Amino acid sequence: MLRTIGVVTPGGDAPGMNAAIRAITRIAHANGFQVLGFERGWDGLLTNNFKRLTPRSVGGIIQLGGTMLHTLRCPNFEKKKGIKKAIKTLAVNKLDGLVVIGGDGSFRGALDLSRGSDTPIIGVPATIDNDVFGTDETIGFDTAVNTAVRAIDQIRDTAISHERIFIVEVMGRKRGFLALDVGITVGAEVILVPENECKITQILQVLRENARKGKKTGIIVAAEGIGDTAALSKEIEKQTGSEVRLSILGYAQRGGSPTARSRLLASLFAEKAVNLLCQEQGNRVVGLRSGLVSSIELQESCETRKSLDPSLLELAEMLAT
Ligand code: F6P
Repeated sequence: MLRTIGVVTPGGDAPGMNAAIRAITRIAHANGFQVLGFERGWDGLLTNNFKRLTPRSVGGIIQLGGTMLHTLRCPNFEKKKGIKKAIKTLAVNKLDGLVVIGGDGSFRGALDLSRGSDTPIIGVPATIDNDVFGTDETIGFDTAVNTAVRAIDQIRDTAISHERIFIVEVMGRKRGFLALDVGITVGAEVILVPENECKITQILQVLRENARKGKKTGIIVAAEGIGDTAALSKEIEKQTGSEVRLSILGYAQRGGSPTARSRLLASLFAEKAVNLLCQEQGNRVVGLRSGLVSSIELQESCETRKSLDPSLLELAEMLAT
């Protein structure tokens, strides 16, 4: 009998999700599975809405941002009734496995699902937030970093011309992985992450010290989760007497063609995910750890907070002198 696996992309999209869908479909077919792509995230499992994915139907998407399966924030899924419906969909379609491509929120949903179903579930980490425990890097993170870096390099040009200070807000409602990597790679004078308290006195100290050294501009990279960046920019302007501008990069960071790195991770994670399902292993999250593709328990991934590397914060400080 033909074996079947499902693929779904719930939660926020990330560049490289399409590359992952393509790779999962092709590797699964090569291993004798047919593939059902559930549409609009968890909603597709609530309504049994899917399309058959074939090696040909996933052609021409590796370079596209977003997700060809679409996605939807789906509060109904989080209710008991929703989980029950989704479990029924897994059973009705006699799924031999479900691959969930997404971030920590999607994996918490997958964990709820796994508690009521025997269908093996594999998480493939894809989020620009890079906040999934069990992988050093998620699909889409590298693309988002590069998108922000390109934008901030351009902002730096005008900051220098006008001798202004810029606060550039990058995404990251809860975590600062994106802000930290972006901050280091644009040479930011200050990096603000939600993990650490934002102390205006410290920011002013850095900016004043820089002014004494002859630096007339400054880039402050702030994760969206640090609080009100508009109020912060007004306060810095008031306290320093310098012109301060705020630039919010926003959703542009979630879109765009995935970088080679994001596409490669998508392909490697997909291979690992299908291999696990071939071995009838489930309820795991695949990832890259110290350069090796591996997997950990889904529950461990959901219940462990990935920590920001404090040495990177120190490095950023040293480099900003
Ligand atoms: O994709 C992750 C993320 O960018 C978070 O940093 C942000 O808080 C969230 O998505 C916002 O997404 P949405 O508006 O789709 O809920």
